[in-house]
Amino acid sequence: TERIYIEDKEHPEEAKLKRAAQILKDGGLVAFPTETVYGLGANALEEEAAKKIYEAKGRPSDNPLIAHIADKEDLKPLVKQIPEAGVKLMEAFWPGPLTLIFPKSDLVPYGTTGGLDTVAVRMPNDPIASALIRLSGVPIAAPSANTSGRPSPTTADHVWQDMNGKIEMIIDGGAVGIGVESTIIDVSGEEPMILRPGAITQEMASKVLGQVVCLDPAIVSGPLKEDVKPKAPGMKYRHYAPKASLTLVEGDTKDVIETINRLAKEKLKEGFQVGIICTEESRESYRNGIIKSMGVRAKEDTIAHNLYGVLREFDDLEADFIYSESFSKDHLGQAIMNRLTKAAGYHIVKIQKEETL
Ligand code: TXA
Ligand code: MG
Repeated sequence: TERIYIEDKEHPEEAKLKRAAQILKDGGLVAFPTETVYGLGANALEEEAAKKIYEAKGRPSDNPLIAHIADKEDLKPLVKQIPEAGVKLMEAFWPGPLTLIFPKSDLVPYGTTGGLDTVAVRMPNDPIASALIRLSGVPIAAPSANTSGRPSPTTADHVWQDMNGKIEMIIDGGAVGIGVESTIIDVSGEEPMILRPGAITQEMASKVLGQVVCLDPAIVSGPLKEDVKPKAPGMKYRHYAPKASLTLVEGDTKDVIETINRLAKEKLKEGFQVGIICTEESRESYRNGIIKSMGVRAKEDTIAHNLYGVLREFDDLEADFIYSESFSKDHLGQAIMNRLTKAAGYHIVKIQKEETL
């Protein structure tokens, strides 16, 4: 696997990206940065190229890929029609961290959509990604560039850990900005619906559409039951999973700290490696295990940015048990808690205050 470096992200050297684009044109795989997470790119119009993605990631082939475009006009050939909600959302948020689901045209192979009659399309807001897609001249299918089941990569090093030897090239454009994957909104049905929360929040989408955009009930209902299948096939897997068993602890700050300290101490006594995920405000309050802060609690964008990196660090440290504080579910917090809850396999300890009479 060749690794190339882009020094000036705002003005990526065209000669370097041309070589990357040629690999994509020839049906190969190139990992590249986007504003959300690193993507593993291949020609979205070639079934064989999509197959290589599934192989490199070890991903179930019923899990569809997002087609990435560089210009809004490139959407048309990929879809049957563009519903009004889709028009409004792309006008408001493209380029940006928003993926839209449309009825697919015949141009898009079922190998890319995991057999579905819909296609997910996103126009990323990253100069390297845009230039690469434009130079390759085709839509680029790109899932997150991690091994299936591992946290999504937010640096080229993360990609290297998972993909070295399995793909042709990694474009290193430094750390990504946002750190969690794009918001997915399905506009192919009667009512628009959020299938995966992200940096384009429920409030933002609702404001643009002038109606409340609901979340897919299957992703808020907690433990995945057989009868509530998430509409984004990828959301049904225990994604973003660290190697350790992760437990989320919810409640008043003081109680959370006390509980995590107690649980950590117990596991340490039993001889396990224990990690704690906390915030700047609370880090001094923990005494046992390996303590990692995700940043200042009120700065949701920092928390989102650090989330996957921290989970990967605990993988590297071979933690057996991780205890994490919870976060507010407002705004970007919805995406943060969605990913954390899934990483925890819905294992949450809720500390309820006893009623005082
Ligand atoms: O931010 C992102 O979206 C990143 C960067 C690289 O652009 N990509 C990404 O791709 O997160 P991936 O493959 O890791 O996640 C795609 C999600 C999966 O949950 C998949 O099931 C869902 O999108 N998806 C794709 N096509 C779909 C469709 N036609 N209908 C419903 N869900 C779909
Ligand atoms: Mg992914």
